[in-house]
Amino acid sequence: RRVGILISGRGSNMRALVENAISYEVALVVSNKPRAPGLEWARAHGLPTWSQDSKGAEKEAYDRVVSAVLDEQSVGTIALAGFMRILSPWFVEEWRGRIVNIHPSLLPKYRGLDTHARAIDAGDKIAGCSVHIVTDELDAGEVLGQTEVPIEPGETPASLEQRVLLAEHALYPRLLNEFVCR
Ligand code: GRF
Repeated sequence: RRVGILISGRGSNMRALVENAISYEVALVVSNKPRAPGLEWARAHGLPTWSQDSKGAEKEAYDRVVSAVLDEQSVGTIALAGFMRILSPWFVEEWRGRIVNIHPSLLPKYRGLDTHARAIDAGDKIAGCSVHIVTDELDAGEVLGQTEVPIEPGETPASLEQRVLLAEHALYPRLLNEFVCR
């Protein structure tokens, strides 16, 4: 039930996971961007952190280092929270079934980037977010749960992102608390 959170940026989902941990403990926050704002928040809150720039690094070699760092902290489950780097097949296999991710769409719709603009352009009436298990295929593993968010008239990608993000902050900790117990 020791969780490692992987981030690349702002870290608002990381923060929600830290603040709402009931059945898990956040053992470590990892960032592939040493200047990620979320990393500072984690440090300021006394959480162990580790970061190393992944730019230019050989993919699997980098992932092996991250995996070792997580093992050192006895991490059992990995939560990706705005981790903007595709993990190597080696890493996904090594941690198979133990990595979860939050994605800002109602999967299987809109895997990848720019989910809100794509949902609005498609004329969708409902957007949302999903928590899923990470597999080799991008944003394609088993969905653990979703929250729907209505798309309002005149909606912009930015306004939709704000509301979906609030839904993410509620959904992710709830499902992670369940997931570590299953
Ligand atoms: C969130 O929208 C999440 O769904 C996506 O990346 C964004 C991360 O935001 N995977 P934050 O860093 O958690 O604030």
